[in-house]
Amino acid sequence: MLKFKLLDEKCQAEQMLGGYIKAHENIFKSVVGGETCYSDALGWLHTERWAGPAQLDRLEALADTIRNNADVFVVIGVGGSNNAARSVIEALKTADGPEIMYAGNTLSPHALCQMMARLKGRSVYIDCIAKNFETLEPGASFRILRKYLCDTYGAKEAAKRIIATGTKGSLLESLCTGHGYTFLEFPEDVGGRYTAITAVGLLPVAVAGIDIRALVKGAQAMEKSLFETPAAENIAFKYACLRSIYYDKGYALEMLASFEPQLRWFYKWWVQLFAETEGKDGRGLFPVCGEYSEELHAVGQFVQDGTPLMFETFLDVLDPGASLVIENDGIQDAFDYLDGMDFAQINRTAFEATVRAHKAKLPCLILEVQRLDAFHFGQLFYFFMLSCYLSARLLGVNPFDQPGVEAYKRWMFDGLGK
Ligand code: PA5
Repeated sequence: MLKFKLLDEKCQAEQMLGGYIKAHENIFKSVVGGETCYSDALGWLHTERWAGPAQLDRLEALADTIRNNADVFVVIGVGGSNNAARSVIEALKTADGPEIMYAGNTLSPHALCQMMARLKGRSVYIDCIAKNFETLEPGASFRILRKYLCDTYGAKEAAKRIIATGTKGSLLESLCTGHGYTFLEFPEDVGGRYTAITAVGLLPVAVAGIDIRALVKGAQAMEKSLFETPAAENIAFKYACLRSIYYDKGYALEMLASFEPQLRWFYKWWVQLFAETEGKDGRGLFPVCGEYSEELHAVGQFVQDGTPLMFETFLDVLDPGASLVIENDGIQDAFDYLDGMDFAQINRTAFEATVRAHKAKLPCLILEVQRLDAFHFGQLFYFFMLSCYLSARLLGVNPFDQPGVEAYKRWMFDGLGK
């Protein structure tokens, strides 16, 4: 299970935490009790609902067919609809199975042409993931890829290669019915950014050959633990309360940092989850990420010495799952002190040194995760989704809408003559 530590020499939030939790316990109780006001958005809260045994059987069978026939699997989706899958795939993928590519997340002709060029001569399957089948990026990419598949294989064979994940009764579902594409259900009661443990996130992960049963087990273990642990010891509620305490103290940013580049796409998932959930009504902490140690040579300067805007949450991966020892090659350079040392030890030393330096300047939270595998990704997904919901409730905003993204869309659709 994840472990949580707080190192706060700056504002000593630890001393306030107990009182804060007590004062807001009603929010915790209301959330774990199931809030009727959000019942149309809480399908993810009990993972069994959209990731039960029958669903996993179906997804694994479909993934096997795709793995046996495809060289490339293109995941079409944007924002919450592709970030979770991408974060696990990019962290855990192996050389075995189809290459996973991404579309529907850009309008750049350069990026799209580059992606299309890599399909030539290869066996291609696609999954168009779109809850509200009006979003421009996935809709436009789906058109291009559909046409490519029909031109390459003919309509009948193309239909076997097209999967679409949409809501029941949507236009996307009628396209599937009308043209013989495989239809997967995008849960009506789950918003994009909460879909990690549904068909939306799980099919692409299974196609990449990653064990979705382990992923779901991890999420379920976390769900059980968070539902059974009272507010005062509950790590999701503690984390949410600390975010709220720091926000009230005037901090404007939370930086999620780690020394494992494997988490590069996970940061993007986390940023999207918190930004879209909390950034509304003129409120919210701005989520940013730091890919250390590289970015200690970039934003590290600002974190240590710049405007004191942020607190920092470190994801500490205890077992890096790899070892690489630096040997002496007989050449006298300035790095003899590293002779015989493992990079695991060097990376850990860099982490500990960074925490030591940063904690003197800003509040630091550490979330320990045993290792990065499917099970622990499941734990991380569930932990952050529930924390984010709790945090939004403490902030006093609706955790499940995103009215702000409509403003640019109105102008864009206007410009495109929709
Ligand atoms: O988290 C969300 O709800 C959003 O980021 C959506 O996932 C994103 O806008 C894509 O929406 P759709 O699947 O409806 O195209």
